[in-house]
Amino acid sequence: MTELRFDGRVAAITGAGGGLGRAYAHLLAARGAHIVVNDLGGAVDGTASGGSAAVTVVAEIVASGGSAVADANNIATVEGGKAVVQTALDHFGRLDIVINNAGILRDGTLHKMSADNFDSVVAVHLRGAFYVTQPAFTHMREQGYGRIVNTTSAAGLYGNFGQVNYSSAKMGLVGMGKSIAVEGAKYNIKANVIAPVAVSRMTASLMTEEMKKMTPEQVAPVVAYLSHEDCAISGQILSAYGGHVGRVFVGETRGLNKPDLTVEDVADNLDQILNQDGYLTPETLSESMQL
Ligand code: NAI
Repeated sequence: MTELRFDGRVAAITGAGGGLGRAYAHLLAARGAHIVVNDLGGAVDGTASGGSAAVTVVAEIVASGGSAVADANNIATVEGGKAVVQTALDHFGRLDIVINNAGILRDGTLHKMSADNFDSVVAVHLRGAFYVTQPAFTHMREQGYGRIVNTTSAAGLYGNFGQVNYSSAKMGLVGMGKSIAVEGAKYNIKANVIAPVAVSRMTASLMTEEMKKMTPEQVAPVVAYLSHEDCAISGQILSAYGGHVGRVFVGETRGLNKPDLTVEDVADNLDQILNQDGYLTPETLSESMQL
């Protein structure tokens, strides 16, 4: 197959100063895209902003012959989100791709989780994606083209001990991505969700030696495909790690159907309610209503 290129396309990648975002930036730049490398440059918990992560990645891209601009805006604010989009428009005159990748961790069990640690994590991952994507979407609607990739996590999809804040934000990004896919369809805007696993500063301490072999570069081709003009899917969740790529989906069992349903019916028929044989995977709210 011909090489999938991004010549003339402009991508804004949040949190691209390291880890996964940096790998996405390098791959898209190597294939011809102009990149806005956004990164606040803080620590894993979101404190101590002001580092030079974005500038370093831009220097790497330029040294490899690519085109990129650094952007240190804090995407966890309305102004910061708008400013990232403006950076793309000011420097490259358009914006085709948004990869919502920035994130922080503030782990803690539910009974010890402070409201501040809950809010801070939701602010970067979930609200930050909204703050960048809304102004980008307005622009993409007008130009009749756009690709958006949100980042979820197995912790959000399946739950994880000590991550009630992170899981809430990460599952929110799934719903956001699916709704943007529905709203964007008639403007040729596609939105999908990536569930990555790779060694990074965020995950290195949580990983076994075996898992540390899974690199951001092995996730990047999947995100690049979802960012490409030829991307054939929208509203999907793809998991990617160590060279694996698969589909994650929300399904519903055939269940029990009884107009005069009682509490006891639920208790007596749990096996049938939970039985996955012939399960359905509605793609939209209206499809689920037709069930
Ligand atoms: P990372 O810590 O290397 O990258 C996150 C980047 O976001 C950092 O460079 C950080 O400075 C930046 N950032 C944080 N707050 C920001 C803000 N307010 N504005 C702009 N930039 C900000 O971590 P990694 O692993 O590369 O994570 C990337 C994404 O992938 C995150 O959303 C993470 O939750 C997600 N993820 C990662 C997994 C993994 O195995 N590495 C697993 C599942 C999800």
